[in-house]
This record gives sequence, C-alpha cells and structure tokens, in this order.
Amino acid sequence: SFLGIDLGTSGLRALLVDGEGRPLGATERHYPLCHPHSGWSEQDPADWIAALEGAVAELRDRHPEFAALRGIGVAGHMHGATLLDAEDRVIRPCILWNDTRSHAEAARLDAIADFRALSGNIVFPGFTAPKLEWLRAHEPENHARIARVLLPAAYLNLWLTGDHVADMSDSAGTSWLDTGRRDWSDRLLGAGHMRRDQMPRLVEGSEPAGHLRAQLARDWGLAQPVVVAGGAGDNAAAACGIGAMEEGQGFVSLGTSGVLLAARDGYRPAPETALHTFCHAVPGKWYQMGVMLSATDSLNWLSRIAGATPAQLTAGLGDSLRAPGPVRFLPYLSGERTPHNDPVIRGSFTGLASETTRDDLTRAVLEGVAFGLRDSHEALKATGARTDRLMAIGGGARSRYWLRAIATALDVTLTLPSDGEFGAALGAARLGMVAAGAGSVEQVMTAPDVTEEIAPDPELRGAFDEAFAAYRAAYPAIRAAQ
Ligand code: XUL
Repeated sequence: SFLGIDLGTSGLRALLVDGEGRPLGATERHYPLCHPHSGWSEQDPADWIAALEGAVAELRDRHPEFAALRGIGVAGHMHGATLLDAEDRVIRPCILWNDTRSHAEAARLDAIADFRALSGNIVFPGFTAPKLEWLRAHEPENHARIARVLLPAAYLNLWLTGDHVADMSDSAGTSWLDTGRRDWSDRLLGAGHMRRDQMPRLVEGSEPAGHLRAQLARDWGLAQPVVVAGGAGDNAAAACGIGAMEEGQGFVSLGTSGVLLAARDGYRPAPETALHTFCHAVPGKWYQMGVMLSATDSLNWLSRIAGATPAQLTAGLGDSLRAPGPVRFLPYLSGERTPHNDPVIRGSFTGLASETTRDDLTRAVLEGVAFGLRDSHEALKATGARTDRLMAIGGGARSRYWLRAIATALDVTLTLPSDGEFGAALGAARLGMVAAGAGSVEQVMTAPDVTEEIAPDPELRGAFDEAFAAYRAAYPAIRAAQ
C-alpha cells in the first residue's frame, strides 16, 4: 500500500491506497491557524506532526493493508517558512502563504529584475523570500539562528526521513529557485540574504527523497523499507491527482481561493500577467496557474451577510443559466493575485438599484468569481497554454449554476469527476507510488472517470462578454476610489 498526506491550511488529510492507487481509507485531523495580528497567519509545526501521527495511528488500526506500506508522498500548503536551528529545532511558528505582513519586502524584492527573470514569478507577498526579509528586519535574533528554511511539506519530509529534502514544485514558490533550470539560484538567495547551505537538497517530486526513519518504521510496525517521495506543493499534487500532466490538461478549483491551472510541457514564464509559473512535481514539466484569493470565500461572505447558507443562496437561482443582470461584483475581499497583484484592493458591488434582490446579488457574486477566473484564463491563453477542457474540483463545484456561468464566461467545457478521491492527497500517494517503483508517471497519474460535462451556453456568450467588459472597467475605477 501507499500513503498520501495532504498538509492543508486547516487540517491534514491522510489517504491510504492499494498497489493500483485505489483508495482504501482516509482520515483527517484539524489544527488551528493563528492570527496574532491583522494580516498575520501562523501555525505550529508540532501541530502538523501530532496530526500526522494521529492520522497514521487511525489508518493503521482500521486497515490491515497499512502493514504492507511501500511508499509515502507528502503535499503541503505552499510558500510557508518553517525555520530550523542547527539542531533542527523549530525557531518560531511557521509563517503561512496567506500571511501578508511582508508586502513591503515583497515589493522591494520584486523591483530587483532578477527575481522575475530567474524565478519566473512576481515576488508575491505570500511567497517565502520576503518573509525572511521581514524576519531579518523585525526578528534579527531569530534570523541569525536559522540553519535551514523548510517549506511545510519538506518539514514533514524531514520528520519522516531525517533528511532536509524538498521537491521542485514546492520550491518554485519560494522566489529563490531558478524555475527554468530547477535549481536554487545563488543570485536570488544572495539578494534575499540567504545561503544555499540553508536550503534543503532538491529532488523531483516523483523521485525518492529518502526512506522512512528506522525508529518510525518500528513504531508503525513496518518491517520492510518504505520510500518517501520528494512530494509536492498542494496545487501540483492536485494536478497529479486528476492526471493533469500534459499540455491541454488542467483544472478549475473552487475552494476558499480559486485556481485555474494548466499543465505545461515547457517553461514559459509570464510574470507580467501575475500568473504563477512553477515546476510540476514530475521531471521535465511545469505548470501555470492563476490564483484568485476569494472564490467560495466570496459566496461565504454573502451568506453571512444575508443570513442564508451558500446552498440556500444558490438554490434560489435554479439550475438554468441566465444572462448577467446589471449588478457586478468585484471579488477582491482580501486583495487579488492574478491578474492585478494588488494586496490592498478591496471588493465592490456596482449597479445596485432599489429593485435589486438577494438573488441578483448571489448571481453577481457567482458571475464575479467566474470573471476573475476568466482573467486568469485570458492570461493563460496569452502564454500559448491550451485548455481544451478543464476539470472542476473543490467545494464550489457543487453549484451547477456556478459551473455553467464559469463554462460560459471562459468559453470552455468543464468536466466533473466521478465521486471519490482525486485531490492533493491522492496526488501525493501517486508520487509515493512512482518514487517506490510501483509504476511510471504515465501509468500512475491517470484522469478520473468523467460523469458530466458542462458546456458553454452559446446563446449567452455575448451577454457574458459584455458583462466581463464592464467587470474589467470597474477595477481601475474602484482602485481610484479607494
Ligand atoms: C498557491 C497558494 C495556495 C496554497 C494553499 O500559490 O498560495 O494555493 O498553496 O494551500
């Protein structure tokens, strides 16, 4: 059997699969996210380890197949800075991807042309390098003690193997990696006041990072050697989970944040579009994605204001798509990454009238998120990415109305996977399978069965184009009004 671990922002999911990659069982453990100040977001890495130990104990008890474990893969939330001293002790809580305290440092590094040229990305406030610059200024005694900086998934790799090893897909989100050459950049490290010896060893996500430590193997009752894969950042792992590995394959994920991801055969950075261009978790591949910060978060916000659940709000619209009305929603509740790279912009409704109803606002919110995804889609197409069809995943994909609005706004057919596991935990387990020699990338990273296709509505394309133009025009206006 093989174990996939998805170290998420709110909890850890562990999934056990058989030799064919079919799920045997899964479990989750939750841990807190701490916000000591506005805009700060931290976690205690000890909570991750406790969650992992608890999840593994449960899977061991429930599934006799655990005793034949051969491989493990870890996926993690990206960009977090886990700081270790010379004895591998955690120096301070991990600073997470959604922590914006280092926005000024990010802007300063981003102005150094080498960052975009070598890392292939804007230095976003959530990325790792600016966090270390913030520490240097605000916690110099902690900064001076840093022997290693590990991303969250690499910290679990260390706990599992005893070695400092990170994969390329996660490391590309640090702003220290030469993303085209798949190696640390001494130039970027130097500009961020870091050194190569403070970085983990790099491996491909589907290659072995090491073996499970002897002590852990004994504790878990395992006699055979267990391979631990390089692992992945959670978005690359999710792509592995739905088999988005080749040009033309990708997904739309409607989670707290919205992600539109396309697999790429080559390295075609386009930082000026605010797209993210990262290494994929397998050799010789990259992926690109647009990230919008408030997707289901926008609907959840309206639901709190309206005193109705998100499901009640969307049920009010029925299932048949209508042309956008006069109300527009700009979904910038926490600022935006793609396409604006604007941490301070905030959202807005426009076109409100005395006859505007709750349903009109709901529709405007769903359309506003669809238009935000279209912004990312336009940027992706401009780099030459093909998106023939996109698989729709994440909690928001339960709303048919939303999916129809997205398909029509983007003019792309969305596919829905059959029920079951296909997220980052499955992608991580699949990396463990490939690393342990259970199959090749092509054999293991397959697409799930598609149960439904949602095609764009040709009758409504024109109306969505017009509303999208109004949506685009509103950003500079609300920017100026702020
Ligand atoms: C990607 C990003 C998020 C985290 C969340 O750039 O910041 O998707 O990986 O888990």
